[in-house]
Amino acid sequence: MADFSLDLRGLGSHAHTRAYYTLKELRPGQLFEVLLDQAPEMLMEALSLQLRHGIHWQTDAAGPPLWRLSVRRREDVEPVDLVDLLTRDHLRIDRLFASALHKVNAEDLAGAEPDFRTYVTGLRRHIQVENELIVPLLDLPRHPSGQDPTSVMLREHEEILEQTALLESQFDEGVDAGWEVAPYFALISGALAKHEGREETNLFPHWSRALRSLPDGGTELLARAKAILAGESRDAKAR
Ligand SMILES: [Fe+2]
Ligand SMILES: [Fe+2]
Repeated sequence: MADFSLDLRGLGSHAHTRAYYTLKELRPGQLFEVLLDQAPEMLMEALSLQLRHGIHWQTDAAGPPLWRLSVRRREDVEPVDLVDLLTRDHLRIDRLFASALHKVNAEDLAGAEPDFRTYVTGLRRHIQVENELIVPLLDLPRHPSGQDPTSVMLREHEEILEQTALLESQFDEGVDAGWEVAPYFALISGALAKHEGREETNLFPHWSRALRSLPDGGTELLARAKAILAGESRDAKAR
């Protein structure tokens, strides 16, 4: 039984705005039913992008004349594939980093450190999945200039890992005041946001297609990636 029914029939171009403001309010555990008088793909994909992939939708009835969808928050359903898993992991890493940054700005260094350390572990595992599991299996054509999306990604990983390691050593030595680490936080925050945005735009659509074309649809890779992100597998190649 849905918690809320959103009827977009007959709204024409207003359907998008109405759906955006309603689905933005979707809370964990809630189920919204959406009724449409046209095929939902374009609308839902645009909304999903605007809501930073925070929603999951499935078609329960496919018209014409009526399309009925179930919409939930993405964290309420299991990841459907590796790209879905990595997209969620971006959000998780961002939240951890933002929380640490927020606490640094409030001079709560004791509170910032555990968030930062969890971010470091999460970041290293995330990059391990991308570099070791995905790149060798789903490689895209490389360009000698190094400007192809895969080479750019690998370079940015190095940079973000280096900046993160610098900040980590600051914390290892002990931080007495927010200003000592604030510039590093600002640097990483910008680099991370740009990197994730580029990855989601330039690489994820290719990865999704490549995963779908694997004999098992990428099921085994998804399981291996989950194990790495959960810290259950130290080496992606050790299988
Ligand atoms: Fe990445
Ligand atoms: Fe990523």
